[in-house]
Amino acid sequence: MSLDGFVAGPNHTMDWMTGTAFRPGLVEEYAGTTGAVLGGRAGWDACPDPNGIYGGAWQGPLFVLTHHPEDAQPTPGVTFLSCDVAEAVRIALKAADGKNVEVFSPAIGRQLLERGLIDEIDLHIAPVLLGDGIRLFDNPGGAPVRLELLTGEDRTAVVDVRYPPATAGRSPRTSSSPGN
Ligand SMILES: NC(=O)c1ccc[n+]([C@@H]2O[C@H](COP(=O)([O-])OP(=O)(O)OC[C@H]3O[C@@H](n4cnc5c(N)ncnc54)[C@H](OP(=O)(O)O)[C@@H]3O)[C@@H](O)[C@H]2O)c1
Repeated sequence: MSLDGFVAGPNHTMDWMTGTAFRPGLVEEYAGTTGAVLGGRAGWDACPDPNGIYGGAWQGPLFVLTHHPEDAQPTPGVTFLSCDVAEAVRIALKAADGKNVEVFSPAIGRQLLERGLIDEIDLHIAPVLLGDGIRLFDNPGGAPVRLELLTGEDRTAVVDVRYPPATAGRSPRTSSSPGN
């Protein structure tokens, strides 16, 4: 997600992720704990490739929710579902066989959150501001949804992050930590 809360740019673009780095082991961790992926039709149509999930590190059942499965291109490993979101989760959980179902869709995530069917929102924030695109949680007029922070002692804690604007040619800053 971008720092300002977008998970995709305008028209589902993802090129803003180029040049960002995940912590070592993160992709392997998610590839190992994910048993099935549930996504929406817009995300699928923007990138109809089941082999690109976690950069190709994950293979498994992918479910795509749509109101019109009849015009979707049949693709091995992909099941197009047209059902209630709760039913889609039930189907995906069964396929996940004890592992996690990752919801790769803010639109579906929002519906599942309303139904109490999201266990965790797991975010990796990229150092970029987009200003436009697909929001993590687009719910105009909705009430705030309170969350609990799972890392650290205080579940109500605000997370502090500091970012200067990137400047071409700026040397990487050094950081100090106890013992340095
Ligand atoms: N940054 C990241 O790590 C990350 C992760 C995941 C996803 N993304 C991005 O997030 C974007 C997804 O955008 P989005 O959430 O706006 O769209 P989306 O969920 O991918 O697609 C929305 C479509 O899904 C179908 N749908 C949703 N709820 C449904 C329901 N209850 N029943 C039947 N069909 C339903 C509908 O398809 P029909 O119109 O066919 O009925 C709807 O138009 C993509 O660009 C993707 O790349 C980014």
